[in-house]
Amino acid sequence: MNIRIEKTTNPKPLPAADDPLVFGTIFTDHMFVMNYETGKGWFDPRIVPYAPITLDPSAMVFHYGQEMFEGLKAYKTDDGRILMFRPDKNIERANNTNKRICIPQVDPDLFLEAMKELVRTDQAWIPEKPGTSLYIRPFIIATDPFLGVRPSDTYLFIIILSPVGPYYPEGLDPVKIWIEDEYVRAVKGGIGEAKTGGNYVASLASQVKAHEEGYSQVLWLDGIERKYIEEVGAMNIFFKINGTVVTPMLNGSILPGVTRNSCIALCKSWGLPVEERRISVDELVAAAEDGSLEEVWGSGTAAVISPVGHLRYEDKVMQIRDGGIGPVSQKLYDTVTGIQLGRIPGPEGWVVEV
Ligand code: COI
Repeated sequence: MNIRIEKTTNPKPLPAADDPLVFGTIFTDHMFVMNYETGKGWFDPRIVPYAPITLDPSAMVFHYGQEMFEGLKAYKTDDGRILMFRPDKNIERANNTNKRICIPQVDPDLFLEAMKELVRTDQAWIPEKPGTSLYIRPFIIATDPFLGVRPSDTYLFIIILSPVGPYYPEGLDPVKIWIEDEYVRAVKGGIGEAKTGGNYVASLASQVKAHEEGYSQVLWLDGIERKYIEEVGAMNIFFKINGTVVTPMLNGSILPGVTRNSCIALCKSWGLPVEERRISVDELVAAAEDGSLEEVWGSGTAAVISPVGHLRYEDKVMQIRDGGIGPVSQKLYDTVTGIQLGRIPGPEGWVVEV
């Protein structure tokens, strides 16, 4: 399918070189849009000026949340090339999400070409300061004007772009995380492993509570026993305990993060023992108490590698290291961002030139 391009006649000024690019606040000049109708399939892929969209107030997405999204990033290399990091993984996960919530599949080649063409169109917006990138947000919404509960027959697939700095204002300084013991995010068999808005709205009340207590994010426990560590709202979580890198195994309720997968592959390639398994909060508290909890970090597209310096569970406070980033977290940050920026050769297929 050919992607039609309609350029804006009214381009916005680019952010100033010293703009902090607060995550998710600035949008580029164009967006990709494509429609779907049952019986017709996806049609009319186009790049058009970034603008508000008009939807019927009864559009199904507003009522039952049939929507999916993804997040990935594009980077400008020192020699001026544009790279995306593992877009095939995001496309695969997008179609897994689509399957789970009854949204039609998107052809992976068209998905990739749509992102590339949009990034090429708005390439002047790719920021170049260290720690910045162009965040790519593809999403699909159900648009049937209908109040009954069923999968929609019409959808919009949209991609928007946002030049971003760090997700957390702390940057690479360790964040404080609250281990939630009241609410849960997801249960096995639910939609926890799908990237859909419902998982994020489920996290808001806890996030507000955590913010009020001075914490950046919430770490979720499993929805049944409230005993096993799952993930943080905007990232997966890793621990280094007694020399071994440990992360919760994918169990159906955890988001299968692309950066998570990359951290595991890199740690293994460095000869570090890596375990994907269940980790109970009691094991974590015990490791913090006996000094074997050496490092904690989160991984995510937006968060990249975020060191965690402080965890709280009920009335127990775990201080990890004496502040500062740990050596494995630092090496992962340097390697992941080095690969993303084309400065370090990564495993085959991890970067895709736009
Ligand atoms: C991402 O890391 O790309 C995400 O989608 C997480 C989101 C909460 C910013």
